[in-house]
Amino acid sequence: MKDQRLETRVDTQTIKIEARKAQVYYGTNHAIKDVDVDIMDKTVTAFIGPSGCGKSTFLRCLNRMNDTIPSCRVEGSITLEGESIYDPRVDPVQLRARIGMVFQKPNPFPKSIYDNVAYGPKIHGLTRNKAELDAIVESCLRKAALWNEVQDRLNAPGTGLSGGQQQRLCIARAIATSPEVLLMDEPCSALDPIATAQVEELIDELRSQFSVVIVTHSMQQAARVSQRTAFFHLGNLVEFGETGQIFTNPKDPRTESYISGRIG
Ligand SMILES: Nc1ncnc2c1ncn2[C@@H]1O[C@H](COP(=O)(O)OP(=O)(O)OP(=O)(O)O)[C@@H](O)[C@H]1O
Ligand SMILES: [Mg+2]
Repeated sequence: MKDQRLETRVDTQTIKIEARKAQVYYGTNHAIKDVDVDIMDKTVTAFIGPSGCGKSTFLRCLNRMNDTIPSCRVEGSITLEGESIYDPRVDPVQLRARIGMVFQKPNPFPKSIYDNVAYGPKIHGLTRNKAELDAIVESCLRKAALWNEVQDRLNAPGTGLSGGQQQRLCIARAIATSPEVLLMDEPCSALDPIATAQVEELIDELRSQFSVVIVTHSMQQAARVSQRTAFFHLGNLVEFGETGQIFTNPKDPRTESYISGRIG
């Protein structure tokens, strides 16, 4: 299974997000330097690299989540389907419905399990009646491998779930608006191996509909779920290519050292 996925060829596809000469500064700290990346449609892209190299920082640039950090400044060009996401006319809230995010630390709303998932479809007017909303909530909770554990207590608060369950709830919430791109920052770090396997299966399923970008510290996970991998080191994008090539035949000695466990 694993080998077969490693060999999955990346077809010629549409570029969904394009970053050119992206720079991120936190005050005087130059955290992301000159990064060029194409995020392809219907593809899982993994961001790997040692702690502090800028994976989360760069991921947050892709849906303007860095806007919320006062010291943070983003330069260069980042486009979604050819349109700059930093254009003053772009509403970050609308943008984040198109480019959803799952954070490392689960952050359910202080609402019921049902309302956490129903919130997005409701505010964006995606359903016509309660039955349709119920159906979306159920299907998203099923996809996030949480339905069996919560179907009897949909009205209980989301914050009352275990850490791993909360993370699956956040995944269900993120997919409920059918985003075009889903950004996931170490989404499995609070999950047990069973839930991790279920989330990896979900990621594989999601790529038939949209792009997924996943930050992970697990090289096995990157190899299992992604078709393209980007290796970051000290704020630079060192190497970006097909996942199979990055893991079996890296071109840069820094990538080689990282994947063989010598740095990081
Ligand atoms: N909110 C912030 N304010 C100031 N500096 C920050 C902030 N977030 C990150 N940084 C700095 O930016 C650099 C990159 O950090 P980032 O969190 O993007 O790394 P990372 O690759 O995601 O690391 P990890 O694997 O540990 O999550 C680091 O030097 C970090 O200290
Ligand atoms: Mg991080």
